[in-house]
Amino acid sequence: MRIVRTTKELQQQANQWRSNGLTIGLVPTMGFFHEGHLSLMREARRKCDRVITTLFVNPMQFGPNEDLDSYPRSFERDQQMAEGEGVDLLFCPDPSEMYGEQFQTKISLDKVSQGLCGADRPGHFDGVATVVTKLFNLAKPHKAVFGQKDFQQLALIRQLVADLNFDIEIIGHPIVREEDGLAMSSRNKYLDANERKIAVCLSQAIGQAKKMLADAGGSLPAQEIITMAESMIEQHPECSVEYVSIVHQSTLRPMEIADGESVLAMAMKVNNKVRLIDNSPLC
Ligand code: PAJ
Repeated sequence: MRIVRTTKELQQQANQWRSNGLTIGLVPTMGFFHEGHLSLMREARRKCDRVITTLFVNPMQFGPNEDLDSYPRSFERDQQMAEGEGVDLLFCPDPSEMYGEQFQTKISLDKVSQGLCGADRPGHFDGVATVVTKLFNLAKPHKAVFGQKDFQQLALIRQLVADLNFDIEIIGHPIVREEDGLAMSSRNKYLDANERKIAVCLSQAIGQAKKMLADAGGSLPAQEIITMAESMIEQHPECSVEYVSIVHQSTLRPMEIADGESVLAMAMKVNNKVRLIDNSPLC
């Protein structure tokens, strides 16, 4: 596996692969790999001749009071894990390589960035859209794989690709979960044993929401599900709801009536310290 730290080398390699007629699959990440990340790499491996994984903790998508400095990092371990998945190239630039002193461009999407995580994290999705645009221009992929765990991010990337005419197929990969249902996340590392145990309330709320919808014959007022999920989270004094929403799976607009096209999307904070998200279609 080749390790590349400069934008120029990445572009040269991508150009060479393309001119040899090879397809390129891209998996953008911020590292501290878990099975969720690895499953995206495997998907790219299955579908493309060459796999590029990027490992860059992108300062532009972190707010001033967020966890940029403490975000978990483990380069050697990540390197070995990517190599184990047959990744061909790991791109891990310094922030100064991605954002030179004169950097001044921002890619900003309108409606899809609003609400849900966009409401709690102002500027976050501008940072994501900007870095992903740069990564697309650098890695020149034919396909790029993103996780459904970050449901709003995936919708944003699809919109970005449509709006800016990127000739890239976006593949959404299902959420990989721990045995008890907790969605895998690099941020789970921040949880102590007790917090880890109660964090499962998000996925339990999803299970309960699906059951409620099935029992109601496939549609019911969204508020009933929202109230149930909020109380499942708030039964733990350590947990506070950031949002619980029922939105349309493709437009992300809030729905009054939950049905087979709805997604339950949630974010909570544990002990006002660790922010966790989860979501699931309710079909
Ligand atoms: P990061 O949080 O490292 O996630 C990288 C990719 O892994 C994303 O597409 C995310 O949705 C996916 N992922 C994370 N946990 C997952 C899980 N449990 N199951 C399946 N996929 C999972 O998302 C980012 O980085 C950044 O915003 C990035 C897109 C790299 C831009 O900086």
